[in-house]
Amino acid sequence: MITPVIMAGGSGSRLWPLSRQLRPKQFLPLTGEDTMLQATLKRLSPLDHAAPLVICNETHRFLVAEQLRQQGVEKAQILLEPEGRNTAPAIALAALQAAEHDSESLLLVLAADHLIPDVAAFHESLAQAQQLAERGHLVTFGVVPTHAETGYGYIQRGERQGDAGYRVARFVEKPDRATAQDYLGGDDYYWNSGMFLFRARRYLEELERFQPAMVSACRAALAGARHDLDFIRLDEDAFNACPADSIDFAVMERTADASVVPLDAGWSDIGSWSALWEVSEQDEQGNVMHGDVMVHDSHDLLVHAEHRLVATVGVDKLVVVETKDAVLVASKDRVQEVKCIVERLQAEG
Ligand code: GDD
Ligand code: MG
Repeated sequence: MITPVIMAGGSGSRLWPLSRQLRPKQFLPLTGEDTMLQATLKRLSPLDHAAPLVICNETHRFLVAEQLRQQGVEKAQILLEPEGRNTAPAIALAALQAAEHDSESLLLVLAADHLIPDVAAFHESLAQAQQLAERGHLVTFGVVPTHAETGYGYIQRGERQGDAGYRVARFVEKPDRATAQDYLGGDDYYWNSGMFLFRARRYLEELERFQPAMVSACRAALAGARHDLDFIRLDEDAFNACPADSIDFAVMERTADASVVPLDAGWSDIGSWSALWEVSEQDEQGNVMHGDVMVHDSHDLLVHAEHRLVATVGVDKLVVVETKDAVLVASKDRVQEVKCIVERLQAEG
């Protein structure tokens, strides 16, 4: 049976000032009534699956527990990281935990902050991925790229593996713009969606080969963990000693056993304000407005007002986000750099 593993430990800093340390974007209702985490859980309902494993920072434990409860998820295990060590260790913890009950367990690794409008298409790709994962391959879901995005990993497909998918010829995590542009030219590149399906045991074997210290630190962190209701609190010293790396660099770029299954489901990673603008319904002027907003002769804006009326006159391609204690005004082409503001705020304490 498939065990969903939901990674919910990111900081979502490019969506500041809405996404904050105490409530990062995966816990916000960015595209509808459900929060991103809840939408991720809801998307699983057609699947017969084992209790999900959620991995998050310990600061967010009550947010996660409450959002799971609201979604009617009664059985779940919530692994609490004292500090994030990126996705490779997070998934290793899930794999070790799942393998304890069932060594052949299949992990469906999901990010808590993706938008997938066509749920039926997602489940079709998942069924294909299952055929490959059951044969021991590490499967990633590949999205046909629409532009030279540098915030994603790219996958070049190789030979076909039956009807289900392709071998991965090459995996390149976050290339520069010129390289991404080159990839768009051919029809054999996909975006890495950041969702994976594999046997827990296979992931651990590969990680053991490339990053053995990570596997032993995760083992120790679980061995010393405290179980408290649905929460599993990792041993702090053991986990803090774990090397940090993403699954993409630690395993997917290096394994010889990766497969890719195409995913055509309108997938999007709401990584930035412009990504949110793109997936939202725009009016005739190309504006997306949340809250009390008035615009005059303004185009291609995303304006989010929480506490005050926000008005614009004669401006284009801007993001304006008003919250209780901070206002962001950014050029829509440069929203990736919102991260720089967050870094400065953190540095200045
Ligand atoms: N528990 C936990 N701990 N979760 C984490 C941690 C951590 O230390 N770091 C990140 N996550 C979660 C994030 O909340 C997010 O849901 C997911 O893991 C992916 O992490 P990101 O930090 O958002 O990765 P990315 O967007 O830069 O890149 C990945 O996703 C892209 C698609 O969205 C890569 O897999 C790319 O190749 C991919 O294209
Ligand atoms: Mg992301």
